[in-house]
Amino acid sequence: MRRPVIAANWKMYKTREETSLFIREFLPTVSGIDDVDIIISPPFTSLALAADMVKGSNVQIAAQNIHFESEGAYTGEISSGMIVDAGCSYVIIGHSERRQYFAEDDGQLNRKVKAALGSGLSVIFCVGETIEEREEGKTNDIVGRELVKGLEGVDMVNVSIAYEPIWAIGTGKTATPEQAQEVHRYIREKIAGFSERSEAIRILYGGSVKPANVRELMSMEDIDGALVGGASLDPVSFSQIVKYKS
Ligand code: PGA
Repeated sequence: MRRPVIAANWKMYKTREETSLFIREFLPTVSGIDDVDIIISPPFTSLALAADMVKGSNVQIAAQNIHFESEGAYTGEISSGMIVDAGCSYVIIGHSERRQYFAEDDGQLNRKVKAALGSGLSVIFCVGETIEEREEGKTNDIVGRELVKGLEGVDMVNVSIAYEPIWAIGTGKTATPEQAQEVHRYIREKIAGFSERSEAIRILYGGSVKPANVRELMSMEDIDGALVGGASLDPVSFSQIVKYKS
């Protein structure tokens, strides 16, 4: 009942030329797929180009961040309206790298989610624990707090969650399907505490997803998608991940 979603997170990789090369190679390989939502998140400078290139296809474009104000004297920032104007339909909010390196806190992220939804964007909201937090048995506490605070007062209709254990991001260490499923189940239960839509909400797993492990992860009951970093930079491997069913 939940439509699967496979999203690429390119982080700070790819020029416009590299973006264009990727999309030209990737698009034809996924053209027949109509039962998976396919999303690519290039850096800001490539968003409009990417959105123009995928127009009319089954691929959608996401930004990796936004500012929570709609406009103003915020040097270096980009608003949700500008992202829509560039042709995006999604935005990733609260990625652990934003939380960790750019000090984005629950309150700011909550404002960003509301700004994005207010502009008509769909949101992929990221949560996840560090290795120390996991070893101390705090995974549910951390993830639960990030959900409750970050999504306070939010209409969940256009929100998906990405569970990304920080120890699995870019490390080659994937959570086992069972470890991921356990947290995904917890996330769904936590959301049920403040939204009637918990069973319909898509929960993506992220952290060293690759062609070799995506199928097993996607077979778990509460894993509805994948947010893919490193393995999404190559059109062949990202295409294989999108086509995990075949
Ligand atoms: P990774 O990154 O696939 O390279 O681990 C995932 C992410 O940070 O979204």
